[in-house]
Amino acid sequence: MNASNLNLEERIRNTALMNKITDDERASSLIKDGMTVAVSGFTPSGYPKAVPVALANRVKKENVKMKLNLFSGASLGPEIDKAWTEAGIISKRLPYQTTDVLRSKINAGEVEFLDMHLSHTPQYIHYDMLPKIDIAIVEAAGITEEGNIIPTMGLGNTPTFIKKADQVIVEVNLSKPLGYEGMADIYITENPPDRKPIPILKPDERIGTPFIPCGKDKIKAIVITNEQDKTRDLTGVNHVSERISENILSFLRSEVKACRLPSNLLPIQSGVGSVANAVLYGLCESEFKNLTCYTEVVQDSMLDLLRCGKAAVASATAVSPSPAGLKRFEEEIDFFKDKIILRPQEISNNPEVIRRLGVIAINTAMEADIYGNVNSTHLMGSKIMNGIGGSGDFARNAAISIFSTESIAKNGVISSIVPMVSHVDHTEHDVMVIVTEQGYADLRGLSPKERALKIINHCAHPDFRPMLLDYYHKALSLEWKHTPHILSEAFSWHIRYMQTGNMK
Ligand code: COA
Repeated sequence: MNASNLNLEERIRNTALMNKITDDERASSLIKDGMTVAVSGFTPSGYPKAVPVALANRVKKENVKMKLNLFSGASLGPEIDKAWTEAGIISKRLPYQTTDVLRSKINAGEVEFLDMHLSHTPQYIHYDMLPKIDIAIVEAAGITEEGNIIPTMGLGNTPTFIKKADQVIVEVNLSKPLGYEGMADIYITENPPDRKPIPILKPDERIGTPFIPCGKDKIKAIVITNEQDKTRDLTGVNHVSERISENILSFLRSEVKACRLPSNLLPIQSGVGSVANAVLYGLCESEFKNLTCYTEVVQDSMLDLLRCGKAAVASATAVSPSPAGLKRFEEEIDFFKDKIILRPQEISNNPEVIRRLGVIAINTAMEADIYGNVNSTHLMGSKIMNGIGGSGDFARNAAISIFSTESIAKNGVISSIVPMVSHVDHTEHDVMVIVTEQGYADLRGLSPKERALKIINHCAHPDFRPMLLDYYHKALSLEWKHTPHILSEAFSWHIRYMQTGNMK
């Protein structure tokens, strides 16, 4: 037996399943026009690569009519979102995306997009509120003797997709170390009225199986691949993200001093992007230790928190480091195996667990208004950027919900603090602390008027502060004084930017 056969037997542990091995083109022919296709993975991590590309190539080459609904955990690598958009395959997409070409088609009205709370997607599917899933294409590090899936680095909705799909195509990726086996903890909830409490009392508790239940019969095709995930580089820590990070740390220190947080804080959830990364690097260099993380995605900085021993455990639905970080992570996978728990996003983002654990949620705003409403998704009210992702799952249920943003955008022509946000993702009721490089505004226990002054004075950029105070005082001079607004002027900043290229 040659080395590659040996490797395959380690990966596909059932001889009958060996007969289902086929090539990507043949597997892709199972996908027919009008189907709903669901794919594994979360962020560009753990998603299938060969079959989606084979399908896109066939559609382009043979000019096949093909329109599909595409469901995923979150964003995907270019082999799906980019290739399928360019092939004109996607009819409806949910629940999150970050790909330029797809974003353009959504904003041009050519692709229907459902921007959803990520914990809602599996629930909608379990409740049959979305179109039935015809095919699930999933990446695996291996398949057990019983036909269950050993996932790789991104779980997302894979367990739900497999449970509800008629057929499953498995891509067994030989580039993924078998060291991933044991990192996943799969727990699927029942539908009400039979739903039980999710028994997670601490971030490091395992409550399920290390594989995704599937079964041999559901697997219709197996494709062997050897492609690494196209994870993305992060923008490095700059002086603005560093100052935001310092401000978040000084807020957390004041909470510890006031005995509202223990000295090792509470489990941390950190959003995606460069600021989130900077905050975690800040924690790495801080006095805080024995930290825990109950989050959605493990980025480079969280791996460093685990490496340097500041954090003991990270529970998430995906590991999504930069390309260099991924290489290092997979080389050190044995070190991380008992420190990272990968859960379905229904569990990683579950309101019940987030509320019970008392998570500190740190997410990113694009703009916030003077009363504390936050927009994380839409430019100028209409143009979607990525989607709400898991930010709402965490913000609404966290013990402390923090939103950070630079106080200005586009070299200072846009103020990120505005009279009224042009789109609301997180309402004033769910936003507890707003942080910019200027400072932080702790909004807890404050009335709308108290919040406005705090946000303007502590978070707004000095260039825009007088304009914001002017708006607030003019609004306050009108008749209704609970949440003072001048409706004819509330969006004038956005309108001015669209007309002149500057909010000033
Ligand atoms: N008005 C207009 N444009 C703005 C803006 C504002 N107030 N604030 C930012 N922008 C623009 C930036 O200029 C940039 O534009 P570019 O792509 O043309 O350079 C773009 O929006 C992204 O801003 P950037 O500061 O680079 O963002 P980021 O990488 O830190 O991401 C979000 C910020 C909000 C887009 C991102 O965090 C996100 O999608 N969040 C929602 C989902 C989420 O929170 N997921 C994690 C939950 S676990």
